[in-house]
Amino acid sequence: MMRRVSEVVEHVADTSETVLIRGETGVGKEVVARAIHAASSRRERPFVKVNCAALPSDLLESELFGHEKGAFTGAYRRTVGQFEYANNGTILLDEIAELPLALQAKLLHVLDDHQFCRVGGLEIIRVDTRVIAATNRDLEQALSSGAFREDLYYRLSVVELHVPPLRERKEEIAVLASSFLARFNKQYRRARELSPEILRLLMNHPWSGNVRELENVIRRLVVLPNDDHVHEALLARPRPSGVRPGTADGGSVAWSAETVAGLREIGRRGALEAERKALAEVLEQVQWNRVAAARVVKVSYKTLLNKISEFGLAPQSRGRAL
Ligand SMILES: Nc1ncnc2c1ncn2[C@@H]1O[C@H](COP(=O)(O)OP(=O)(O)OP(=O)(O)O)[C@@H](O)[C@H]1O
Ligand SMILES: [Mg+2]
Repeated sequence: MMRRVSEVVEHVADTSETVLIRGETGVGKEVVARAIHAASSRRERPFVKVNCAALPSDLLESELFGHEKGAFTGAYRRTVGQFEYANNGTILLDEIAELPLALQAKLLHVLDDHQFCRVGGLEIIRVDTRVIAATNRDLEQALSSGAFREDLYYRLSVVELHVPPLRERKEEIAVLASSFLARFNKQYRRARELSPEILRLLMNHPWSGNVRELENVIRRLVVLPNDDHVHEALLARPRPSGVRPGTADGGSVAWSAETVAGLREIGRRGALEAERKALAEVLEQVQWNRVAAARVVKVSYKTLLNKISEFGLAPQSRGRAL
């Protein structure tokens, strides 16, 4: 982790103060949130993550604060929310910019009073749950459009931590790359190394997907039999439609909200997608000889067949450049 960020992490860990973590997709905001929890005296208590963009408002309210039996159709029994579950621990409110306005008001009260009622309930629940919020969105824009409450923003951002994009901390690329390499070598029982050529490409890549993208590139390097695929990925990376490529010198690019949402979605598919891609490439390379493919990726034949069907892989049309 970057020195400055880890200094702040150490410094705020035991204050129980709210932390707002900002930064592009894949920079490691969740990693930082977990580090804060782990460095605090709350570490033995739960750390929970709630994605504020994943649920409609009603369900999100119940997820956060719980509900009483009969609070709504289908509420057959009392359910404890994540705030209550993580009492004396930490709750990460991920994608906080997407928190619906009605819940923004409720959250503000909880931050001020440390108490709330479950949905459909009257009993006052008191909690000591540390709140960390994270977002990769342009909060200033959400503030000025009225989509995000200013008072909540000030309450959340007592400590605001900006995690810089990978292209602004190139000195970390080699360290991260070799730690991923060690991890994947172990996981896939390989002994791949980073050639000077690959290392040079890694240093010069714009890394629009940040550490997550680096992690996936190294996974491909380890899983695939030769470096060509990784060269390709690093030199001419296929980009989702509508995304402008980063400038060649790795300078910053002003992403639109849609673009960022798109990248985030790609990130979510993350590791699984990398595995799927890697497997597809191996299969193409061995012309769909499944016995050979199983040998290359070092899994049993049965596992390979399972993965092929799990990923919905099928032979590509002939003549596709590999
Ligand atoms: N310093 C680091 N060391 C090791 N792995 C890291 C580091 N930072 C990030 N990663 C890895 O990169 C991936 C993305 O990190 P993380 O999920 O924390 O990103 P994020 O900023 O929350 O992204 P998003 O905005 O898309 O949610 C994860 O697999 C994480 O383990
Ligand atoms: Mg995240």
